[in-house]
Amino acid sequence: MEIQTQVTAAGGTGKLVADALLLVIVGDTVPATLDAPLAEGVNAAVQLGDLVLKPGKAAYLRQLPGVKPPRVAVAVAKNGGAKSLKAAAAAGIGLLKGLGVKHLAVQVAGTDAVDAAMAEALALAAADAVYVYRTTKPSAEAAPALTRLTLLVARADADAAAAGLARGAAIAEGVALTRELANRPGNHCTPTMLAAEARRMARANGLKIEVLDRKQIEALGMGSFLAVAQGSDEPPKFIVMHYQGAPLKGKGAQAPLVLVGKGITFDSGGISLKPGEGMDEMKFDMGGAASVVGTMRAVAQLKPKLNLVGIVAACENMPSGRALKPGDVVTSMSGQTIEVLNTDAEGRLILCDALTYAERFKPAAVVDIATLTGACVIALGAVHSGMFSPDDALAAELLAAGNAALDTCWRMPLDEEYDESLKSNFADMANIGGRPGGAITAAMFLKRFTGKLRWAHLDIAATAWKSGAAKGATGRPVGLLTHWVLSQAK
Ligand code: BES
Ligand code: MN
Ligand code: ZN
Repeated sequence: MEIQTQVTAAGGTGKLVADALLLVIVGDTVPATLDAPLAEGVNAAVQLGDLVLKPGKAAYLRQLPGVKPPRVAVAVAKNGGAKSLKAAAAAGIGLLKGLGVKHLAVQVAGTDAVDAAMAEALALAAADAVYVYRTTKPSAEAAPALTRLTLLVARADADAAAAGLARGAAIAEGVALTRELANRPGNHCTPTMLAAEARRMARANGLKIEVLDRKQIEALGMGSFLAVAQGSDEPPKFIVMHYQGAPLKGKGAQAPLVLVGKGITFDSGGISLKPGEGMDEMKFDMGGAASVVGTMRAVAQLKPKLNLVGIVAACENMPSGRALKPGDVVTSMSGQTIEVLNTDAEGRLILCDALTYAERFKPAAVVDIATLTGACVIALGAVHSGMFSPDDALAAELLAAGNAALDTCWRMPLDEEYDESLKSNFADMANIGGRPGGAITAAMFLKRFTGKLRWAHLDIAATAWKSGAAKGATGRPVGLLTHWVLSQAK
């Protein structure tokens, strides 16, 4: 989608060339500054009872006299904040679905200014409305024809709005890629296929990429990752993507940021088999990996002056005669041994080796992203991703990035007391700590592999996808991650 700003003067809608106008009204009155023809149309709709000036409400108006775009959607936002603007835009664009609108103009009325955050939110709402999953359902109604979005702004706002739109557009591309990869079923998104998609993304965006196969993973000594992969006929892949926006050596050298994604392309639970109901949703267990690929793409487009490495550990978790068994002890790349008490706690087993691998980059910070625990779903629901970090500054950065991106996280504790439950009589640690505080003990397990790192963990078990009628990947936390990465540019 082509996303741009256009500076407008008062009365501009009489000349505006677009297939539709989305008018977002902030507040519960028709702003006095609105062009007369638009104001008349809106007032008429209010009088008719077609439009209620309350947050979340929207109405479709056709062919208003004096307004050039043949269609007008009016949506009401509670306030000028990015969050309410995004919700209003989504409602308004929803009314235009299926109408063949190719070029949509957006005007915000009732605020003093349109800032970067508002523009970003509008771009994201528009992109969200046009994503349709069709890879294994070609009969699905094609995406709305929207190919062009023009945000109408006052001259004074033009630069900020353009920057916000560019950021929103890049995040939207990353989100769409993440949703697409995560939505694909396990037989269409094996570790091999995920690696191929990462390669395609890297090539298209000028990123370097390495894909390590089983032999190379063995040579690295990733005994824990390989133990999870051993039950499956699908070979594991270890994917490393590099974005370079600053020198890595010499003058002005910058230590890279590293993102690590859990890429379980299907989690059956292994020998500790999951119940059948809802097991299909475990195709989304590579949501963390997909968000790393999507974030790499967004960052490649925005070109901040920093270095970023994206790591994905990808495999299936399957039961078989070769599968890892409860009680087995495996040796991680770090040398620490792990007693596997439950083969369904596999995410931490692949991530621990990926975190050890990350050490070689001497990173400025490492964030892992994983659909790690059902316990996090219970703790936080689908509103906030769970965020864990022993580093207060890094935690604050991630909270701020989540708020700015409207893709929030909530900090969870990591007190040493939680480590108790990981003790094992047969290895350096067990891979589960029991049901109490399950999201925290999972994070404590990972923490044992991050001694030398400035590290945070995001548990996206509840936020990476939706269940029920709207079942599908959300693209979270690409917005949070992209904002965090951008915030690290010096
Ligand atoms: N991928 C799951 C976590 C999950 C469960 C995400 C439900 C979203 C919805 C993970 O691999 C897992 O199975 N975790 C276990 C850990 C337990 C055995 C300690 C869980 O949460 O039940
Ligand atoms: Mn599992
Ligand atoms: Zn899992």
